[in-house]
Amino acid sequence: MEYSVKSGNPEKQRTACVVLGVFENRRLSAAAAQLDKASGGYLSNLLRRGDLQGKSGQTLLLHGVPETLCDRVLLVGCGRERELDDHKYQDAVAAAARVLNESGATEAVTYLTDLNLKGRDLPWRVRRCVEATEQALYRFDQLKSKQDKIVRPLRRLVISVPSRRDLPEGEQAAEVGQCVAAGVSLARDLGNLPGNICTPGYLADQARNLRKQHKKIQVEVLEQADMEKLGMGALLSVARGSRQPPKLIIMNYRGGARGDKPVALVGKGVTFDSGGISIKPGAAMDEMKFDMCGAASVFGTLSACARLGLPLNVVGVVPATENLPDGDASKPGDVVTTLSGQTVEILNTDAEGRLILCDALTYTERFEPRSVVDIATLTGACVIALGNHAAGLLGNHHPLINDLLNAGRHAVDRAWELPLWDEYQEQLKSNFADMANIGGREAGTITAACFLSRFTKKFHWAHLDIAGVAWKSGKDKGATGRPVPLLTQYLLDLCEQS
Ligand code: BES
Ligand code: MN
Ligand code: ZN
Repeated sequence: MEYSVKSGNPEKQRTACVVLGVFENRRLSAAAAQLDKASGGYLSNLLRRGDLQGKSGQTLLLHGVPETLCDRVLLVGCGRERELDDHKYQDAVAAAARVLNESGATEAVTYLTDLNLKGRDLPWRVRRCVEATEQALYRFDQLKSKQDKIVRPLRRLVISVPSRRDLPEGEQAAEVGQCVAAGVSLARDLGNLPGNICTPGYLADQARNLRKQHKKIQVEVLEQADMEKLGMGALLSVARGSRQPPKLIIMNYRGGARGDKPVALVGKGVTFDSGGISIKPGAAMDEMKFDMCGAASVFGTLSACARLGLPLNVVGVVPATENLPDGDASKPGDVVTTLSGQTVEILNTDAEGRLILCDALTYTERFEPRSVVDIATLTGACVIALGNHAAGLLGNHHPLINDLLNAGRHAVDRAWELPLWDEYQEQLKSNFADMANIGGREAGTITAACFLSRFTKKFHWAHLDIAGVAWKSGKDKGATGRPVPLLTQYLLDLCEQS
């Protein structure tokens, strides 16, 4: 879709549709009031008759509104004026996008960006308008034999800004929004692809694709033999049960100066997690194709970085493997030696994410990173603790944790910190190796992070457990693309700081 930015009165827009906000109890937004006045009170008359209450998500499409130059007017409910927040704003934008896309209007001018949102400036509102629109119109139908194509989809969205002076800022915000949205879509596509298509090898090919699209991205893929030579016993132990060879994918985005230390993003890439010998129950096991959403977010964020042309270096590291049961698979009780030299007793083969991440994290030392963030659908316990609203966040460096918390708030892709106190480390004791790969029922998200913390002592590190936010279950089952907005915002903020 095409986006542009414009200033001017709503009744003067020569367009297929003008989009206006209406608050609960039939209160018109400023732009709606302006068009209402020009039309001789046409909108307020309709509202008085009870056609639209203004509840969040409600819409009403009108044709032939007098004294306007547009073919249609779309009224969008925004809820109570004083309660308008980030989420209700996005809901309104998304509702508008869905109706427009099926209305026959191929172009529209939206005034939703004119709404007042506490603490959110115009560039923020424009950017989120683009991102929420793209998110709402996202479809994953590449695997359906018949795709029900919308006959006249929305092709161009014009975003209103208050005055001509706001145009440059608005245009830039729309551009940033499109870059982030493209990263989110890529992450969603990779997440939604099934395990028989999106294998470790497929992910490696996608990395090479990214390199083809962006000159500033370099790619290296380590094969099983390379991992054996290096001594990545933990990563390899997970791959043993699979016919698909594991890959360690390294993507280097070089937007900064040669000597600039990179930010490292390490993403869990388990393309299907059956649990291995500690096999999972059957219910909803299909959703374990989403166990590579951490990896997908690394791909999405790197692609967003490249599109934005961010002036910094970012290295993405993705350990990719399946976790399957087999005669050759790792068994509970097996002891393996990690790349760091530390040994691990595998008490549960379903705690495989930390096993592949620990070797990838140790490998990341060689990049001398300024900070390392790993992103993983690591624990079901995180879904119990935080539900679907926030990613779990733990780490060894508070400034980094705060940067990520702030980035998440700004991007409406929030994380919430959990403690990583030493006391929890005791749960990882093993009688037979340096540590066990599980820490018992209690504080499962924290003990998983404790495990990782033993491999991250040499750098500033934070861990995002995205098990609750990376995909949705139920009738809207599918990948969300989170936390690409958070990660991209973190990198954007780093560019501002320096
Ligand atoms: N990929 C899962 C975590 C997961 C489970 C995410 C369900 C979302 C929904 C991970 O590999 C896993 O199986 N973790 C185990 C760890 C346990 C064995 C210590 C879990 O959470 O049950
Ligand atoms: Mn598992
Ligand atoms: Zn897993």
